[in-house]
Amino acid sequence: MTRYDEVKLELTKKPKIWLVTGVAGFIGSNLLETLLKLDQRVVGLDNFSNGFEHNLDEVKSLVSEKQWQRFEFVEGDIRDIDTCRNVMCHSAGPVDYVLHQAALGSVPRSINDPITSNSANVTGFLNMLVAAKNANHVQSFTYAASSSTYGDHPALPKIEKNIGNPLSPYAVTKYVNELYAEVFARTYDFNTIGLRYFNVFGPRQTPEGAYAAVIPKWTGAMIRNQDVFINGDGKTSRDFSYVANAVQLNILAATAPDEAKNQIYNMALGDRTTLNTLFESIKEHLALNGVSYEKSPIYRDFRPGDVRHSQADISKAQQHLGYAPTHKILDGIQAAMPWYVKNLEH
Ligand SMILES: NC(=O)c1ccc[n+]([C@@H]2O[C@H](COP(=O)([O-])OP(=O)(O)OC[C@H]3O[C@@H](n4cnc5c(N)ncnc54)[C@H](O)[C@@H]3O)[C@@H](O)[C@H]2O)c1
Repeated sequence: MTRYDEVKLELTKKPKIWLVTGVAGFIGSNLLETLLKLDQRVVGLDNFSNGFEHNLDEVKSLVSEKQWQRFEFVEGDIRDIDTCRNVMCHSAGPVDYVLHQAALGSVPRSINDPITSNSANVTGFLNMLVAAKNANHVQSFTYAASSSTYGDHPALPKIEKNIGNPLSPYAVTKYVNELYAEVFARTYDFNTIGLRYFNVFGPRQTPEGAYAAVIPKWTGAMIRNQDVFINGDGKTSRDFSYVANAVQLNILAATAPDEAKNQIYNMALGDRTTLNTLFESIKEHLALNGVSYEKSPIYRDFRPGDVRHSQADISKAQQHLGYAPTHKILDGIQAAMPWYVKNLEH
């Protein structure tokens, strides 16, 4: 039995109260789905800046009516401290665990508008941290950090303690989160865990908009028979990880023993896939789902702020949190493609 199996069993026997911020977004709505299926109570916060009501509707359709009734949604903004204070309680009682996902993602977005990224990702983060600490009943505060914090550090694979200089305003905001969390542990004895997500993908990750992530963007383009653009020569590589792995690690982190808290952990698969291989894999798995794409990708300039290669060392999360990823990249692509075909085909 893995630690995840044990934790899930324990949670089902003694349900807890969770706060998920960014709950209408991609990772937040996947956390919500798993927590409700484990009979947990969940408070969810989102301002719909990048999240969607249809993500919540989909989760509703995937859980029982009784499980859905254990969810309380608050539409609000983490940049407002009173909103952050108000979500620290469910009608059934005070929040035990915070999973803070709300932020403005995307390196290019932060390059185009650093002020807005900073307000959500730094001011909003600090508001959440203060509200959770002051609530006096939150046992752990797990937050979405980012692999962008490795910046220009050349070593591969990435080990948590070796970081370089940030390469974008987004990377600065995510690094500031880690600094605040560390100071809150030291100054207020408040328990945090930062999960440096590498490239997470899966159902409900939107293909729409200028700042869409690569897997949904390409998948959407292929389903609609549009051009697929590769930034650079296609040899750029990333550690793509299916969202079920991220959900697992969040739950393991929130419930971790005290000695594993107040740390940063890589959240990835520990593998590396080039953009050229990714293109072929998506194409093949779409074909298995009845979508054939005949066009070749169009190569264009590298994107400013992007790192060339990224791959995580996940041994720290494996050793301290019992993390055991269930999906390799191709398992994830196989699991995600039917969702895209169902939701994007007209
Ligand atoms: N997806 C990835 O590969 C990845 C990689 C590294 C880090 N992250 C981080 O993980 C977290 C979740 O990412 P995601 O991919 O699910 O993105 P997402 O955009 O789908 O979800 C983020 C959610 O936060 C909400 N939000 C944004 N600003 C808010 C505000 N001011 N108040 C309330 N809600 C707000 C959005 O409406 C959205 O629903 C983010 O913190 C992101 O920076 C994601």
